[in-house]
Amino acid sequence: MTGPTHIPAYDLPRRNRRVLLARRPNGIPQPEDFALDETDRPDPAEGEFLVRTLYLSVDPAQRGWAAAEANYSAPVALGSPMRALAVGVVVQSRAAEVREGEYLYGWFGWQDYAVVTPDKIVQRATAPVPLSAYAGLLGINGLTAYLALTELGRPVAGDTVLVSTAGGAVGAYVGQIARNLGATPLGLTGDDEKVAACRERYGYADAWNYKTADWAAALDTAAPTGLNVYFDNVGGPILDTALRRMAVAGRIVQCGTASTAVWTPLPTGPRNEREIMTRRLVWSGFVVFDYVARFEAANQALVEWYQAGKLVYDEDISQGIEHAPGAIKALYAGENRGKKLIFVG
Ligand SMILES: NC(=O)c1ccc[n+]([C@@H]2O[C@H](COP(=O)([O-])OP(=O)(O)OC[C@H]3O[C@@H](n4cnc5c(N)ncnc54)[C@H](OP(=O)(O)O)[C@@H]3O)[C@@H](O)[C@H]2O)c1
Repeated sequence: MTGPTHIPAYDLPRRNRRVLLARRPNGIPQPEDFALDETDRPDPAEGEFLVRTLYLSVDPAQRGWAAAEANYSAPVALGSPMRALAVGVVVQSRAAEVREGEYLYGWFGWQDYAVVTPDKIVQRATAPVPLSAYAGLLGINGLTAYLALTELGRPVAGDTVLVSTAGGAVGAYVGQIARNLGATPLGLTGDDEKVAACRERYGYADAWNYKTADWAAALDTAAPTGLNVYFDNVGGPILDTALRRMAVAGRIVQCGTASTAVWTPLPTGPRNEREIMTRRLVWSGFVVFDYVARFEAANQALVEWYQAGKLVYDEDISQGIEHAPGAIKALYAGENRGKKLIFVG
């Protein structure tokens, strides 16, 4: 390992710009749910270190972190910096195990600087990949694609794998990984440009725009013996339709629920129990942070495929922290082309 490449030039401002959660969102966070403020650059206490953030990550999961509804983690406190993963560089350390000059991916929030303890590090950037890839390829997107697919979807050569949000930051990897494992990936996405990227760039044998195509009929033709794996990022009506096309002993990986606009009142839909029973399906929920012990092995596989040219990725990078408040809304609207990042360095 030689360390990350493509390290951008950055400054070390005296002030710390932060994006605070100002209001509890109802559904998808809107720009008005956030407020920008500025403080002095903070100083680390004993056992802490100071990170200059460079790439702020924008993730659909932030909706859940900001919401009042029950989630797998406590909601972000109102008035505090929005919880976010980010790639940054250590500029001052009073923690024995953290070196100044180290590049890290971790829980640093939407802000220029974070004072944190070492448990907030998700990964140390040591692999020879572009630094920003730590927020995508080797960040929760690549890790989720690899771990959810291999641990829960478990496709074998010859299997057919359907993926929703196939042209997104996770879906782009799922298609390529399924292909690298010898399976046949099929993709659904809500945009013709993303359909083309799925077919031409992300390894999908075929892909359809679920907003305009008769994708259920297309699936019946493309997967006449049924789907062995459904990697579901959206839930809702797309899941209901896919469920009825699963092969016996198929696996559904519930990785996201992007299609549900609000959780209160509780959404209702068709009763699907009979499909689960008669097709003997396994329906598993996935949360990437349950698999921290597998991150290193996942990194190794992802880096090897990347270096062999078997895993490509795209990034959609905005410049400036002022783009953060509207970024989650835009992500849910499908506006990004590749992993959404905000460069603040
Ligand atoms: N469980 C975990 O540990 C974990 C970790 C990381 C990510 N995830 C999940 O993985 C999924 C993908 O994440 P990502 O970072 O790659 O983001 P993404 O898929 O690029 O962004 C969300 C996408 O959801 C789609 N969408 C929005 N509303 C929809 C609707 N009503 N029906 C169908 N699709 C809709 C849009 O894609 P189209 O343009 O295709 O419509 C939008 O671009 C998300 O659900 C995220 O929460 C889960």
